[in-house]
Amino acid sequence: MSGTILVTGGAGFIGSNFVLRERFRKSRIVNLDCLTYAGNLLNLRELEGEPDHIFVKGDIADRGLVQRLFAQHRPEAVVNFAAESHVDRSIDDPGSFIQTNIVGAYHLLEEARSYWSGLSSQSADRFRFLHVSTDEVYGSLGPSDHPFTEQTPYAPNSPYSASKAASDHLVRAYHHTFGLPTIITNCSNNYGPRQFPEKLIPLMILNAIEGKELPVYGDGLNIRDWLQVEDHCAALGVVLQRGRPGETYNIGGGCQRTNIEIVNTICALLDEMVPGSAPHGRLITFVEDRLGHDRRYAVDCSRIERELGWRAKESFESGLRKTIRWYLDNSQWIESVKSGAYRDWIAKRYGGEAIVVDHQ
Ligand code: NAD
Ligand code: TYD
Repeated sequence: MSGTILVTGGAGFIGSNFVLRERFRKSRIVNLDCLTYAGNLLNLRELEGEPDHIFVKGDIADRGLVQRLFAQHRPEAVVNFAAESHVDRSIDDPGSFIQTNIVGAYHLLEEARSYWSGLSSQSADRFRFLHVSTDEVYGSLGPSDHPFTEQTPYAPNSPYSASKAASDHLVRAYHHTFGLPTIITNCSNNYGPRQFPEKLIPLMILNAIEGKELPVYGDGLNIRDWLQVEDHCAALGVVLQRGRPGETYNIGGGCQRTNIEIVNTICALLDEMVPGSAPHGRLITFVEDRLGHDRRYAVDCSRIERELGWRAKESFESGLRKTIRWYLDNSQWIESVKSGAYRDWIAKRYGGEAIVVDHQ
């Protein structure tokens, strides 16, 4: 896309990777982010001084602000990443998830609809509202169930996934009822540079580097389907260009791993990359399970492959190696995210309840 895109949540993990990619492709970006604990302007440092990256600190639920941004910048598309995104936090305190993921999405949709309805018919046809969602809306799979397709019924199990499901339904309804050209993507677990270290992979990398315990929930056999973030962003680019309004596209890595496999792989890679503190596996610690912990996610992404010609490029092993390298090389970034708020969360979530398991 070469025009202007209104990106929301573009200072977070996936949003910032998307903004960097789209700037490289010369899109003009208006980046609306209220900078919660998960938003970090260091993620966008490469864009400092670029006039075609306009960062605006603000909330997607602020109707007046969003209206002004539409009027002033006349975007060709909205890509909505803004969300509360961590399942454990949604169990701890669901309120902000309801507010941003549902109420915020509603306000953004309303302002998008109002702007879109005033466009010329040619611009209105070209306009897209791309809502970035998760595979977690589909619930949990049994060991031999077929991966989630776009037809799988919604069955969200956590306050996070329920709030994302609610926003997906609103986005769908705005297409069906008002004709707003919306598209929804439901993606599997992402990993890569700039992911906040509350999520599994960066938390394990950072803890291992610092010689801290690696807290694996329950039996460690829950399965996730992992996708490198740049592959996700490439898929979003393809959906913006060629996706059909009113449709949903599942995005996934075709890479199902148990959590303990992930942690063991991180430890093995760190043994090789930081041999001085090997073996990192001695730090693995099984802790109390997450409430309502979904057992397995897996995504059938044959539709986006077949219809839009997207395919994941990065293999998990090389993607994970590069990700670890990034965290090893970016100590300033790591220091910047370790605010008091981060330390408080880690202490509250993991403080003192670990059970060390002997792996000999
Ligand atoms: P993140 O938590 O790293 O980033 C979210 C960003 O949104 C932050 O910069 C935050 O400041 C901003 N934000 C939060 N509330 C806001 C508000 N009210 N107004 C404006 N900005 C606000 O999340 P992420 O991992 O980058 O995920 C981005 C999107 O992708 C989310 O919608 C998430 O549901 C979805 N998703 C994530 C994954 C994953 O594995 N991380 C997988 C599939 C889908
Ligand atoms: P997470 O990265 O929070 O993503 P999601 O819950 O959205 O899939 O967690 C990925 C998996 O890792 C999930 O099964 C929970 C598990 N997990 C742990 O075992 N220990 C941890 O400290 C964290 C954060 C997650």
